Amino acid sequence: MKGKLELLAASTVVLALAGIAGAEDKIKIGFSQGTMESSWRVNMVEGNKNYAAANLPDVELIVTNGENQASKQVSDVESLIAQGVKTLIISPVTAEALTPVVKQAMDAGIPVVTLDRKVNTDVTLHIGADNVLIGKTAGEFVCKTLDGKGNVIEIQGTAGASATVDRHDAFHEVLAEQCPDVKVVADQVANYVREPAIKFMEDMLQRYKPGEIQLVYAHNDDMALGAVTALEAAGRLGEVKVVGIDGENAAYDAIKAGKMVATFTYHFVAPEGVQYGYKIARGEKLDKEIILPTHQVDATNVDEWIGKGF
Ligand code: AHR
Repeated sequence: MKGKLELLAASTVVLALAGIAGAEDKIKIGFSQGTMESSWRVNMVEGNKNYAAANLPDVELIVTNGENQASKQVSDVESLIAQGVKTLIISPVTAEALTPVVKQAMDAGIPVVTLDRKVNTDVTLHIGADNVLIGKTAGEFVCKTLDGKGNVIEIQGTAGASATVDRHDAFHEVLAEQCPDVKVVADQVANYVREPAIKFMEDMLQRYKPGEIQLVYAHNDDMALGAVTALEAAGRLGEVKVVGIDGENAAYDAIKAGKMVATFTYHFVAPEGVQYGYKIARGEKLDKEIILPTHQVDATNVDEWIGKGF
């Protein structure tokens, strides 16, 4: 009996060691997502997770959610570093707050790939669409659509996120240069989330009477669609044009139905995030930036885009 027990104990140890060795063989890649509040970000995470599960059997992808709080995301990254990730993929909530911990990872020899939003320090690779180009093209579209004159309400994304800063600054620069009589009369941060955008738009409809606002520029489609909801409820959608960013299917449908006038496609960097994170973890040398394409979608070409978003 004793002999059998000893044999069982020994084989359990062997199996356990085999299991541990299997786990150790995997390449750990950390993916720190800033928030999962918008459908765009859920697609970013799911797209990268599904690709890794289907194509990268030697990868253990560890995903964390910063819940739109920079302090939470900083501790997520610290924990990923402590877990020994070979590459850190991060879509940072804000640039400034996440910069020190990203620098800490780089200094420790952990390559960092930023997705969509940037930090203020050198990283191994940044992948995303060009937010300056999007803000600029949106500005040009608005100047043209309003025929050089009108009042705009801007609904901004998360304060301090590089995407927000670029979408805001480039838009304002174009307005100042090309159509100074188009004025942004009010703006507010709504964190790229629909509900606060609805609330803000409801307040704006109290403040500005019919004929006093001509257009809403929202930094993403979730917030643009929130503005549409408030405008429709107030029976004022006919007098205000709405522009968004991202390329949601609901936004394409809204353009087709005449409820929005334009959106700009914004790639959610899946599966590119984990694809390139994997290459880097395996020692491949790559360029420092991959710029993904963006497209203007409006009434003239929306039919080509219907159903092709997310
Ligand atoms: O950082 C960019 C934005 O973040 C996307 O456009 C938005 O939908 C997301 O939450």
